[in-house]
Amino acid sequence: MSSSYPSDVFSRLYAGEESDKLYPKEEAAEQAPEGVEDVLQTNIFNVMLNRRSQRKFEDRPVEDSKMEMIFAAADTAPTAGGFQGFEIFNVKKADVKAKLVEAANKQPYVNAPEVLVFCMNPQRVKLNFPPEIIRKFSVQDATLAAAYAQLAAHALGLSTVWIGMIDEKKVMSALGTDLVPSSILCIGYPQKMLQPKPKRNLVELIHTVQ
Ligand SMILES: Cc1cc2nc3c(=O)[nH]c(=O)nc-3n(C[C@H](O)[C@H](O)[C@H](O)COP(=O)(O)O)c2cc1C
Repeated sequence: MSSSYPSDVFSRLYAGEESDKLYPKEEAAEQAPEGVEDVLQTNIFNVMLNRRSQRKFEDRPVEDSKMEMIFAAADTAPTAGGFQGFEIFNVKKADVKAKLVEAANKQPYVNAPEVLVFCMNPQRVKLNFPPEIIRKFSVQDATLAAAYAQLAAHALGLSTVWIGMIDEKKVMSALGTDLVPSSILCIGYPQKMLQPKPKRNLVELIHTVQ
């Protein structure tokens, strides 16, 4: 690895993961070490390395300017053929949020200050491939866009949780759409900044084929 990598990268070179509790789950109590601040972070490696799922949000809205940056970030994600085979539903209505909680196995934190539902829109993908490939493309388009939005939110001093445990039909009914959702991204100001979770040792993760 080049010495130009931020030193933080090396903090990922350790093993260990916690149990696989089912959703909904309680947030662990640990806090970030001193120095993890609620400020704009512009170093992409630090943003990635310090991101942590958050399920306890402050009861305050996120500024429109920050949401615009999050949408702009989602819009920069690569998409199959550049066709942007996804849509974002920005859910504001309390009764729709309540339906999304139900649709997400009653995970209460889905009722977050900002709730974005990323849906696939395979009709936008004008490529001459079989429908199952087009569908796969739109799943990936929607997923990447959500991932970009998640990182952007973190860079803006916000926290997020990605919700994949959803009943697609219930989400579609709550939104009044035919588009199939891929994930919900819940965003808000964290009650506490949490420490990033340990990940697999990179030596276990990388399978070099040579
Ligand atoms: C595909 C996917 C589905 C997920 N679904 C849920 C979910 O339904 N509820 C939830 O609380 N967290 C969900 N998460 C968040 C993960 O639990 C979380 O990312 C994981 O525990 C690692 O923690 P970290 O994000 O803090 O690194 C999901 C994440 C992904 C990528």
